[in-house]
Amino acid sequence: MKIILATNNKGKLREFRKMCNTEVIAFSEILGDVEIVEDADTFKGNALIKARAIYEKLEDKDAIVVSDDSGISVPLLGGTPGVYSARYAGEGASDKENLYKLVNTVKEAGVERTPAYYTAAIAIVSKFGEYVVHGWMHGDVLATTRGENGFGYDPMFVPSGFEQTLGELDDEVKKSISHRSKALELAKPIIKMLQR
Ligand code: IMP
Repeated sequence: MKIILATNNKGKLREFRKMCNTEVIAFSEILGDVEIVEDADTFKGNALIKARAIYEKLEDKDAIVVSDDSGISVPLLGGTPGVYSARYAGEGASDKENLYKLVNTVKEAGVERTPAYYTAAIAIVSKFGEYVVHGWMHGDVLATTRGENGFGYDPMFVPSGFEQTLGELDDEVKKSISHRSKALELAKPIIKMLQR
């Protein structure tokens, strides 16, 4: 039974390949370019939109499609950027532009740091049904950036229990506490069950 990942992100593909003892394929290898409009107002909704869109196009209905959607939410800013994390500074904005927009918005709110959390939703669509799991990582965002590790908003995010930002902490530390790792741990037994 094949696992089709609704992403072309090489890092995500590598993580999934390590996790599953079966073939893991990026959807584009089978379907080429597929335009998917992610217009839900929750991470769960967007993850399901992606996984359903790919599953519907597949000939092999025995395949399992896995997708993920993630972002950062700042309660002081009404939960933004949330599902708009990837396009916070506008459609097609780079990770750096989004990062500095959030740094400036926190600064304009008049604080040096404020609580925030990352969310990851993983959706699994198969002939047996649909499943969604979540993982979270809590901490604070700063009105500045420190370090170059990770990606996206990591240089301004200090995880709970740490002094350094994810930009300063080792990638292995992030892997052990991240929203994505936690969601993956929950997705693993579901994928294993569907493979049997
Ligand atoms: P997506 O899940 O690839 O759609 O990512 C959504 C956006 O959320 C990314 O472009 C990043 O800006 C942000 N994001 C999600 N996860 C992380 C993370 O682990 N670190 C930093 N930024 C993240």
